[in-house]
Amino acid sequence: MKPKSKILIIAGSDSSGGAGIQADIKTITSLGSYALTAITAVTIQNTLGVKSVIPLQPNDIKKQIIFSANDIKPDAIKIGMLHSKDVIKKVLESIKLLKIKKIVLDPVMVAKDGSRLIDRSAIEILRENLISKVELITPNIPEAEVLTEMRIKNKQDMILAANELIKYGAKNVLIKGGHLNTKKVEDILFNKLDFKIFSNQRYKTRNTHGTGCTLSSAITTFYSCGKTIKKACELGIKYVNSAILTNPNYGKGNGPINHLNSMKVIKRFK
Ligand SMILES: Nc1ncnc2c1ncn2[C@@H]1O[C@H](COP(=O)(O)OP(=O)(O)OP(=O)(O)O)[C@@H](O)[C@H]1O
Ligand SMILES: [Mg+2]
Repeated sequence: MKPKSKILIIAGSDSSGGAGIQADIKTITSLGSYALTAITAVTIQNTLGVKSVIPLQPNDIKKQIIFSANDIKPDAIKIGMLHSKDVIKKVLESIKLLKIKKIVLDPVMVAKDGSRLIDRSAIEILRENLISKVELITPNIPEAEVLTEMRIKNKQDMILAANELIKYGAKNVLIKGGHLNTKKVEDILFNKLDFKIFSNQRYKTRNTHGTGCTLSSAITTFYSCGKTIKKACELGIKYVNSAILTNPNYGKGNGPINHLNSMKVIKRFK
């Protein structure tokens, strides 16, 4: 089988393999596309937590992007962890040069164990400059709170926060509801014209390491193959939901989900 599309991932490495660039490559591959990478930082972590973060030089991140993408032109870009203001500046320069429209931004800020993965000055430039350059932004609740400086306690707050992010120039916002204590897990997609609530079964499991990275990569894959943002979100959320259900229960902490669980989704998506 030939890959359906080519996706450039700009993100951090997770040595445990469940999140970050490892989760992105597994997701994109298992959904039938080709992944190129630009690594922004190397994290030393396992399912129990993050031990350290080793950032790469901003210039070397830009070089990875340009050198790879000028040779194999991506159909879409997925952006994950960008730890500093200088890195975001280099990514902004790079996407301007590449002129690729389909960009999904997962504004990774905090790891599942609460470790901060991005510094404060980076948050401002991300909000003021990067959000408006991408087609979709996928914050979780804590990230949406940081970006909007609002507290989010329920669905109404999620809608208000999404609306606030639209004011910063976001075209589409998917606020993920994994962190709210609700019976069903609800993710809300919002743009200037429309909003859609995706409601799914919430599983009682600690094995949700990398759900956010996996989701944004799955959405980017479907989007790169011609699905609308709304359809790509719906299919991506389904993929993550069944990947959580069939998680392999690895590790002593927050274990990974099952990235190989894509067969049913693939049939429908062809
Ligand atoms: N327990 C769960 N059961 C079912 N779906 C879940 C559960 N937890 C999260 N999800 C789904 O996983 C996706 C990612 O949401 P989440 O809020 O966990 O993102 P995140 O916090 O960015 O993840 P990460 O910690 O990996 O960065 C969403 O579609 C959400 O609905
Ligand atoms: Mg996340």
